[in-house]
Amino acid sequence: MRLPKRIKLVEVGPRDGLQNEAAIIPTEVKIELINCLSSTGLATIEAASFVSPTWMPQMADSSAVMQGITRQPGVSYPVLVPNLQGLAAAIAAGAEEVAVFGAASESFSRKNLNCSIAVSFDRFGAVCEVARKQGLRVRGYVSCALGCPYEGEVDPTRVAWVAGRMIEVGCYEISLGDTIGVGTPIKAQTMIAAVAEKVQLERLAVHFHDTYGQALANILAVMELGVAVIDSSVAGLGGCPFAPGAAGNVASEDLLYMLEGLGIETGVDLLALVAAGRYISAYLKRPSGSRVANALTRQLEGAKTCA
Ligand code: HMG
Ligand code: MG
Repeated sequence: MRLPKRIKLVEVGPRDGLQNEAAIIPTEVKIELINCLSSTGLATIEAASFVSPTWMPQMADSSAVMQGITRQPGVSYPVLVPNLQGLAAAIAAGAEEVAVFGAASESFSRKNLNCSIAVSFDRFGAVCEVARKQGLRVRGYVSCALGCPYEGEVDPTRVAWVAGRMIEVGCYEISLGDTIGVGTPIKAQTMIAAVAEKVQLERLAVHFHDTYGQALANILAVMELGVAVIDSSVAGLGGCPFAPGAAGNVASEDLLYMLEGLGIETGVDLLALVAAGRYISAYLKRPSGSRVANALTRQLEGAKTCA
């Protein structure tokens, strides 16, 4: 088995994780979580999203979050933006990297962005153009890469086409999202192989929700093909209100434990990550969604959570 020697972890807990919480989380808690994560060795922490507060009330304080965090040197804090209005707000809040988010399924595009895939690309193109002029990098998400909550199976060639368009409009990296967590390893490999015909493998990332418990197996399968950028969420938080039935993302702690066991470098400290997860799980008053965090918790007993 040939696996990458080093994996870049993209922590999406403060955004994908918290966006799915029903009760509004105070700004200070979001800031503290991001500050905790900033001391783990993670180089990328997706911090917020500049979307309509009507559509996503939980993210309405994103400007305050971005302005309140203590940015660590060498750490990037990307934010989601669906359109130019979101980009302007993100720039005003000091964002240096943004992500646009599209879908391989027409129905999901309409449910999540209120527009067709074609119209979404007009908006992404405009975002990329302004972002480039202002010196910001743009990442692109492709949701429903392994299935859609409204349309079911999604053709890998469709995913490849959308990913290719994302690169054409100016994204530097494409994160392929199993938004509802239905994928299995061979399907994940087939999808990656199809996308790799349009987009260089080095520019691909994966983003697995873990609804059916397949995320780690899928990750191992796509690492075998050379994928070396992986999104995950501390304490396994996550989900999207427009993707009914979706569970959280693969837990960052579980992913890191697997990578350490495989001898793969990440630069991230597992116990520090567990401490960040303990902080947010204590706030949410529920057990962590990370099995590794739960198993290691006894080692941290007596120690404080990171906040
Ligand atoms: P719309 O209603 O069609 O927008 O929504 P509009 O342009 O017609 O404007 C309507 C109102 O929204 C106006 O306000 C605008 O100012 C406001 P009003 O005049 O009525 O007071 N508005 C905004 N406000 C703040 N920030 C903005 C913005 N844009 C318009 N950027 C829109 C279209 C895209 C805005 C909406 O559909 C939206 O916000 N969608 C976001 C949904 C979302 O956040 N989904 C979760 C993230 S994606 C995800 O989780 C998947 C991912 O994790 C990968 C995976 O798992 O697959 C990334
Ligand atoms: Mg997601």
